[in-house]
Amino acid sequence: MSGITILSGNPGLEDVFVDLFGRAVPVRRIWSDQWRDPIEVAMDACAADPELVVLGADAGIDLTQLVVPEIDRLFPSATILCLVARLDVATSLTLLRLGARDVVLEAGTRREFQTAVEPILHLAQSRHRQRRQAASQIRRRVITVVSPKGGSGKTTVAVNLGIGLARRAPKQVVLLDFDVQFGDCAAALGLRPEYSLVEAAAAADHERSALKVFLSSHPSGLAVLAPPDDLVAVDDIEQDAVKRTLAAFAEEFPFVIVDTASGVDRFSLAAMEQSTDLLVVSTTDVPSIRAVRRQLDVLDEVGYVSQRRTFVLNRANAKVGLSVAEIETAVGLEASFQIPSTRLIPVSTNESTPVIERSGGGNVANRFDRIAEFFAPTPDGDGRPSRRSRWKGHR
Ligand SMILES: Nc1ncnc2c1ncn2[C@@H]1O[C@H](COP(=O)(O)OP(=O)(O)OP(=O)(O)O)[C@@H](O)[C@H]1O
Ligand SMILES: [Mg+2]
Repeated sequence: MSGITILSGNPGLEDVFVDLFGRAVPVRRIWSDQWRDPIEVAMDACAADPELVVLGADAGIDLTQLVVPEIDRLFPSATILCLVARLDVATSLTLLRLGARDVVLEAGTRREFQTAVEPILHLAQSRHRQRRQAASQIRRRVITVVSPKGGSGKTTVAVNLGIGLARRAPKQVVLLDFDVQFGDCAAALGLRPEYSLVEAAAAADHERSALKVFLSSHPSGLAVLAPPDDLVAVDDIEQDAVKRTLAAFAEEFPFVIVDTASGVDRFSLAAMEQSTDLLVVSTTDVPSIRAVRRQLDVLDEVGYVSQRRTFVLNRANAKVGLSVAEIETAVGLEASFQIPSTRLIPVSTNESTPVIERSGGGNVANRFDRIAEFFAPTPDGDGRPSRRSRWKGHR
């Protein structure tokens, strides 16, 4: 719907905005005594995807200071205007630093108010348009990381790819942990999620624009949706709800990465169905390679053939008697990326700092960065798989 949302208990303020701008843009006012936290306020304020959010002076400086950064973080396409009863430099500076675009005196004549607010509204409308356009121009990708065998490196790939992509497209990458029983993306990233897939799936139908509040933010700019702690709650999530949740996130985020449990379950099926890409991960042992081939055959049979398949060979330097060429023949896919076996990876996992972020990550970090480059080529990168730079030994 967009337009202006006013956060105020004062109907008179709404009248002023309707008089001044109501013909050109929808004006909506919200206020509640039941809000539990600033995130909930931000969600309500941005439920209609507004161009401009106005915090009335009556909202009070304490609430305003808590809500402004949440709106700025969760809804970057909204411009924030704070109204104050008395202008003072220190308060204004604080609000601007927290993410407000401008601070304007609420008192004063209508004419003065219009002169102050009109340019901010125009700027808000053009920023909103630009952000929407920029988002629609990025080549959207839904990348599901799959493997038939446990422990093959799916989560390692998903998490490092997530950070690599977030570096290229900050705040435009979400990692959905669909390994609902044992998912550990959040732990690998050192996050403590407050919400999970359960809350997101429940909201996917009616509060799509607010789904971001269920995500945990990593400092890299990667957003993560965790699986629930409560395994009973997992049973209640219907496959359709999972599909709608993924679809809603795919509308919001140009890059969606889905980590899955090993094998095939209703969550990975829901993800694969909507994916543009499958990132197939395997280690080099014969049972894993055979299982990958079987999994790909099953996907062919059920008609999941439109997704681009990219093969990541993990622990590629393990000496198991099979050459990479033999593995590629057995799987039927070229090993576009090869990740060496190195203790840096479990050490990084244990320290909740993915190897791509480690200062000593070197060659291994670079391998993951190449995967990110493949999905989001930068103007000076080549976006090609790292096949040519094969593993040459690492300690
Ligand atoms: N290239 C590697 N070198 C050394 N250790 C690795 C490598 N890749 C993954 N590991 C380690 O192997 C373990 C399993 O990796 P990971 O959790 O990424 O696999 P997974 O496929 O997600 O497993 P699961 O099926 O249980 O979810 C982790 O301890 C991880 O640190
Ligand atoms: Mg995993």
